[in-house]
Amino acid sequence: VSDASLPTTSTSAATQLSAIESAKRAAAQLAVKEHFNPEALYIGIGSGSTIVYVVEAIQELKDPRIQNILFVPTGYQSRQVILKAGLKDLKFDSLPADILIDVAFDGADEIDEDLNCIKGGGACLYQEKLVATQAAKFICVADHRKLQPRLLTKWPTVPIEVEPLAVTTVISALKRLGSPAPFVREGHIQKAGPIKTDQDNFIVDAPFPILLLFADIEQAAKQGGKELKGQGEDGQWEVQALAKEIKAIEGVLSVGLFVGENGLQAKARGKIAGGQKP
Ligand code: 5RP
Repeated sequence: VSDASLPTTSTSAATQLSAIESAKRAAAQLAVKEHFNPEALYIGIGSGSTIVYVVEAIQELKDPRIQNILFVPTGYQSRQVILKAGLKDLKFDSLPADILIDVAFDGADEIDEDLNCIKGGGACLYQEKLVATQAAKFICVADHRKLQPRLLTKWPTVPIEVEPLAVTTVISALKRLGSPAPFVREGHIQKAGPIKTDQDNFIVDAPFPILLLFADIEQAAKQGGKELKGQGEDGQWEVQALAKEIKAIEGVLSVGLFVGENGLQAKARGKIAGGQKP
């Protein structure tokens, strides 16, 4: 997270916008400096506006070894960014079996103190999750606005990729989990109706009360003298527990809650091809 200072309310809209863009660029440059490995064979490139600066920072290195790297996109926009920069792309399903992506860079909509994040604000959810879970290292690149003590502090909903046929039953199941008013995301510029993901699915945005960290649940259990499994007495969910419950609903393809330990899970499953930067 870039530590660029927050624009104040007295600055003009244009100045605030350029301060945000500078913060995104600073975060991207730092991420590339710290985590990009020119010896890597596979690098994941996520979606959104911050990731454009990541690719720009990679290009600025002017390292000839970059031409040997295969960049794995998380969707249509991501692939266009890779190709426009003159880099080589590799579709996720062409990755050799049991080989990990050395490092995946991606943006986020909100990040908590445990580095869990909300993603899917740009509707590129499923492929982002695929790439992140197959990466030895997942580097979330975000400016100062995105970091909050708990998820759903400022970003209002959990994005969920849903197979269209199941959308009404998924919405009912989300209500049973305590989401007050889940809704299908709309917003095509030229035509009315739900937006479609790269997989032709819908995005359901589900509001929930602010999510708890695992430590909050442990603390509450100690104080209450009984075991709480993922949900506090006031209905607030712990991030990982909620992600698991939503994922278990029939018709849900992917949940926009990225829980901190993705990289560790991936390491247990495969080998890293290019050798990691320490
Ligand atoms: C797309 C995403 C993006 O990574 C997320 O929305 C961040 O985007 P930006 O960098 O434009 O703020 O999850 O589905």
